[in-house]
Amino acid sequence: MKQPDKPLRLLVVGSGGREHALAALCQRSPYAASVIVAPGNGGMAHGFRCFPVGADDVAGLVDLAEREAIDLVVVGPEVPLNLGLTDALAEKGIAVFGPRADGARLEGSKIFTKELLQKHGIPTARARWFADAGEALAYVRGETAPMVVKADGLAAGKGVTVAATVEEAESAVRAIMEEKVFGESGARILIEECMTGEEASIHVLVSGRDYAILPTSQDHKRIGEGDTGPNTGGMGAYSPAELVTDELLREVEEIIVRPSVEAVAAEGMDFRGVLYIGIMVTPDGPKVMEYNVRFGDPETQVILPRLQTDLVHLLHACAHGYLNEVPVKVKPEHALCVVIAAKGYPGDYPKGEPISLPEEMPGESFVYHAGTALDPDGDLVSNGGRVLGVTSLAPTLRQAAEAAYGLCAKIAFASKVYRRDIGAKQLTR
Ligand code: AMP
Ligand code: GLY
Repeated sequence: MKQPDKPLRLLVVGSGGREHALAALCQRSPYAASVIVAPGNGGMAHGFRCFPVGADDVAGLVDLAEREAIDLVVVGPEVPLNLGLTDALAEKGIAVFGPRADGARLEGSKIFTKELLQKHGIPTARARWFADAGEALAYVRGETAPMVVKADGLAAGKGVTVAATVEEAESAVRAIMEEKVFGESGARILIEECMTGEEASIHVLVSGRDYAILPTSQDHKRIGEGDTGPNTGGMGAYSPAELVTDELLREVEEIIVRPSVEAVAAEGMDFRGVLYIGIMVTPDGPKVMEYNVRFGDPETQVILPRLQTDLVHLLHACAHGYLNEVPVKVKPEHALCVVIAAKGYPGDYPKGEPISLPEEMPGESFVYHAGTALDPDGDLVSNGGRVLGVTSLAPTLRQAAEAAYGLCAKIAFASKVYRRDIGAKQLTR
C-alpha cells in the first residue's frame, strides 16, 4: 500500500473543536513527525505549538507553512478555502487537504450548488433564486408556507431561515437583501421548498474521482432540548447515525454520493478534501440539503475517534491522489459529543470565565477545546460561544452518553450550559 515516504510535518488551520480533534488524531499517527496549529485556542496551546496567524490570513498561513517546512496543510474551516488558501499553497508546492477556491464554491454559493445539483439530476429541494428584493418578495407572497429562505453566500451557519409563515419569509428576504445583515453574502437569495424528515451528515473523503464514505453522524443544530430554539453551529453529535441504515446508505451512495463526486469532477474541480453532504431523509427518499467543503463541527469530534485507519494516511492519500489504495476501516464503538456552551449563545454570551477541568480523564474520553483561551497568567478561560466538546467512545451509544455526561458534570465555569438530550432520539428509536 502506498504511504508517506517520511514522517510529515503537519499544519492544522483553525481554532475550533473540529481542529482540536484533527490535530489530536494527527499527532497520534506514526506518519506525523510534528503537528503545529494556526491560530489554535487555549486548550490546544497545551499539546501543540500554536502560531497567532488567523485562519483567514492566506498570506500569513503560506509564510508560516514555508517557514516551518510543512509537508501537508490540513484546513479546518470553509473561509480560508473560499479565499483560495489551497491555491496559494499549491503555488508554493505545498500539499493541502482541502479543496481549491473553485471547489470551495460548493459551500460558498448555495445557488452555484443548486444549479450543479439540478444539472446533474441529484435529488434536492425545489428552489428559485433572486438578485432583486422586489422579485423575491413577489415570489414569496405567491407561495405557501412553510418555506426556506437562504442567503447565497457564507454566513457563518446563520444564513438560513425556515419560515413558518409568508410574513416570516418576507422579513427574512428583507433582512438579507435590504438590511444586508450578511453583507455581500446576501446579494442573492434562494427560496426553497421546505423538506420534512430527519437530517444526517454524510462525510465523504474525495480525491478527484475517488471517494470514501466516512462513518455517518448526526448533529443537533438547535440550542434547546427537544430541538427547540434558534439554530447554532451544532450542540452535540453522535456516530454512527442508525437512522442511516446500511440499505439507506447504499441508496445515498447510489443517488447522491457517487453522482456528486462525478458532477464535481465533471465540472473541472480537482477536489481533494472532504465533501460533507447534509441530507434530509424525506418520505420521498434522501435529498441533498447542502454541501460543505470541510469537516462538520461537532461531527468531526465523533467521526475521527471511530476511524481505525490512520487519519494522516487518509489525509495524505486524498491530497496526493491515492485514496483508492487506502481502505477506510471503522471501529464498532459508538461516539458521542456534548458541546458545552456559554449561556446566551447563539446570541451574546460572556467571555473570560475561568474553566476548571477534571485532573483525570476517563479512558476513551476527550475534551476538545473550541472557545477557550489562556489568560495572562496562563490559566484557561472561556473565549467563545461553543466552549468545549466532551466526547466519549464506548461499546454502546448509551455508555458513550453516560461517559460524556459524567465528564460534563465535572467541568465548571460560571455560564456553562449544555443540552441533556444528545443522542436521545436514537436511544429511544
Ligand atoms: P443549511 O445551512 O443549508 O444546512 O441549513 C441549516 C438548517 O436549516 C438545516 O440543518 C435544516 O435544519 C434547515 N434546512 C435547510 N434547508 C432546508 C429545507 N429545504 N427544508 C427544510 N429544512 C431546511
Ligand atoms: N455541524 C454543522 C456544520 O459543521 O456545518
